[in-house]
Amino acid sequence: MKVTVIGSGYVGLVSGACLAEMGNDVMCLDVDERKIAMLKDGRIPIHEPGLQEMVKRNAAAGRLHFTTDVAAAVHHGTMQFIGVGTPPDEDGSADLQYVLAAARGIGRHMTDYKVVVDKSTVPVGTGDKVEAAIREELAVRGAEVQFAVVSNPEFLKEGAAVDDFMRPDRVIVGADDERAVLLMRALYSPFTRNRERVLIMDRRSAEFTKYAANAMLATRISFMNELALLAERVGADIERVRQGIGSDPRIGTQFLYPGVGYGGSCFPKDVKALLHTGAQNGMDLKVLGAVEAANERQKMVLVDKVVARFGEDLSGRQFALWGLAFKPDTDDMREAPSRVIVEELVRRGASVKAYDPVAMTEAKRVFGILPGLGYAESQAAALQGSDALLIVTEWRQFKSPDFEQIKTLLKQPLVFDGRNLYDPELLKTLGVEYHAIGRP
Ligand code: UDX
Repeated sequence: MKVTVIGSGYVGLVSGACLAEMGNDVMCLDVDERKIAMLKDGRIPIHEPGLQEMVKRNAAAGRLHFTTDVAAAVHHGTMQFIGVGTPPDEDGSADLQYVLAAARGIGRHMTDYKVVVDKSTVPVGTGDKVEAAIREELAVRGAEVQFAVVSNPEFLKEGAAVDDFMRPDRVIVGADDERAVLLMRALYSPFTRNRERVLIMDRRSAEFTKYAANAMLATRISFMNELALLAERVGADIERVRQGIGSDPRIGTQFLYPGVGYGGSCFPKDVKALLHTGAQNGMDLKVLGAVEAANERQKMVLVDKVVARFGEDLSGRQFALWGLAFKPDTDDMREAPSRVIVEELVRRGASVKAYDPVAMTEAKRVFGILPGLGYAESQAAALQGSDALLIVTEWRQFKSPDFEQIKTLLKQPLVFDGRNLYDPELLKTLGVEYHAIGRP
């Protein structure tokens, strides 16, 4: 099939590459000329396992093209995917200007039937706005061309996005146009071969499903984080509790890990946007409001523990910080808990020596010049002369560190672990003072 993907960011690029991988002829459009030049050159602007090779392979095979030419891109595909950003507005609502600009571009140039597929995360009802924008552009030209607008939210996890696209748990398609449904089924059938995983529904329900999924997952995390805080106070071990409840299939084992709060490009933004949708519809979403508040509190938990140990004033202290990205296998720093942690430590007079396997360049961009924050070349170098080690992201390479080295390089053997990576008994035996989340 001929597919156009508008927006070559995270969602657009992964979708485009994976669709090309199945044999579709894909054209990716972006307004950013530098980005397109880079992609034509076989380099990708983000860190995502497997993506670079997939882009190269399919570009070389002539199935994946990149362009900044809107007309050419619109003419190319029967399927027009919109995968542009929907950043939060000041009031927390999703900013739709890029989605609607993409829609207008399609309306301006289309000459035959198109399925316009909205992959960006957009509030319920956006499909109607996209449809109206296209109709307006057609009217300006006096053109009459058939089209359908479909909602097809993505459920990609950063760091596993290629895998998630290639082997989806489900594919949500919100559409009422029969021809569009058939084409969507055909496009996705190679990805869902062994089991029927394409769920067809009305467009509003599809749009809502995306927010509901992320809000549900965020709720799980915030609730676990809250239970962890209480576990500490009552002398229970949240890791045991997690296993204890996760074995109930109604609860399940995934996404039950307490930590330093959720971050990233989706959860914080989508929770805010859904709260906003609630308010717009005269509803104060009480559970979701608490989820957000609990997450803000959670980002401070590690610093609270440092303060409890060293006192309010941290001047003269130096802390090693392992992990800056909001989660492993990505260099994404959006809403990363590390940002709040670093800023609070520095504000209290401490200096921070941070190390992250891939996110340091991005961190330098995000933090700019922040007196007190320095970067270490290795995880060992971060330890040198520091008062304690703080673990913020659970990169695999942090999971079995050389504890003897930690003991010798730190001023004292002291670890604050925001991701519960180690066995408290083991660290006790090794003579390391260990503070984790929700553990005695
Ligand atoms: C998420 C959704 O999983 C994905 O379906 C959606 O399309 C986009 O948002 P992503 O932002 O890549 O994906 O990250 P995810 O792996 O879901 O983690 C989100 C945040 O929750 C991270 O900050 C992570 O550290 C935190 N988290 C996750 C926990 O604190 N505990 C957990 O048990 C799981």
